[in-house]
Amino acid sequence: MHSRILGTGSHLPDKVLTNADLEKIVDTSDQWIRERTGIEERRIVADGESTVDLAESAARNALGAADIEPGDIDLIIVATTTPDRVFPSTACLLQQRLDIHGCPAFDVQAVCTGFIYATSVADSMIRSGAARTALVVGAECMSRIVDWSDRGTCVLFGDGAGAVVLGASDEPGLLSTRLHADGAYEKLLYVPYGVSSRPEKVRDGEAYLQMRGNEVFRVAVNTLGRIVDETLDDAGLHKSDIDWLIPHQANIRIINATARKLGMSLDRVVVTVDKHGNTSAASVPMALDAAVRDGRIQRGELLLMEAFGGGFTWGSVLARY
Ligand code: COA
Repeated sequence: MHSRILGTGSHLPDKVLTNADLEKIVDTSDQWIRERTGIEERRIVADGESTVDLAESAARNALGAADIEPGDIDLIIVATTTPDRVFPSTACLLQQRLDIHGCPAFDVQAVCTGFIYATSVADSMIRSGAARTALVVGAECMSRIVDWSDRGTCVLFGDGAGAVVLGASDEPGLLSTRLHADGAYEKLLYVPYGVSSRPEKVRDGEAYLQMRGNEVFRVAVNTLGRIVDETLDDAGLHKSDIDWLIPHQANIRIINATARKLGMSLDRVVVTVDKHGNTSAASVPMALDAAVRDGRIQRGELLLMEAFGGGFTWGSVLARY
């Protein structure tokens, strides 16, 4: 038994925050942000809008594309770093929105690699027979944990959600998934406070993302190069076999470095970082959905999805679409 992608979906909040808007908030410039990151604009949730709202819209789009009814779903996994609440999980909140009852539903927290982790778990459960039709969502409101006075981080992130429906299949769809983490890198990218360690800081609204961007950049480029080789070796395939690279959308310079390592021309790389910024666990499924919906990705093509994020965590999914 294998799992394959039956349909994809995504959703962006309405509010656009451009680099020009950010020039009014912090000491930055459109030119600096474009040159260092490739980002032109990002979407930001409205007051009262939350991660499950974005997840629900993306999930409904994916269910529609897969032509699957909510009642056919027997596993829900939501990858998020910015859940609506400590509990119930965002996956349970989403399950309720979709009027699905009884199937397992849980969140996965692997920051920007969350969707890769969640997809790998769903794939394992389908291949073992524990599930037949899984809804896997990456959804984030990164704007809620960004310090809007820190120009080193606030220009980088955005909000959104992406989703896939994975179904059991006799034919191979997902060919290889690779997951890694190394907690030794904690201090390069982290939120310093949480509900059990410093609840007063959370209450006072001081639990913001912190990052040593330069060091993160170096480790990300090296690590993503390695994971590409590992994934292809695992599947017995070559760089030239890949039709589409769908990378985590953190920085255009990291994406370009990975594409160079693969010897891929940039017209085979899906790039959304210019319009989305870094949406953490939502970035890979939103990029996948964008290229499926505009007709670039066709059935039968070989896709390499990869991500790197806080933890550090990193991983990849190689899939025949
Ligand atoms: N606007 C203008 N100047 C800025 C700025 C901004 N938004 N942010 C930082 N700077 C300044 C710094 O203060 C520094 O000034 P100084 O030289 O006077 O001290 C200068 O720009 C260079 O900073 P540096 O951090 O070395 O820049 P960089 O080329 O490494 O680019 C990042 C910064 C954050 C864009 C880059 O490091 C990056 O993308 N890192 C990876 C981040 C990432 O992907 N994180 C998520 C992983 S999932």
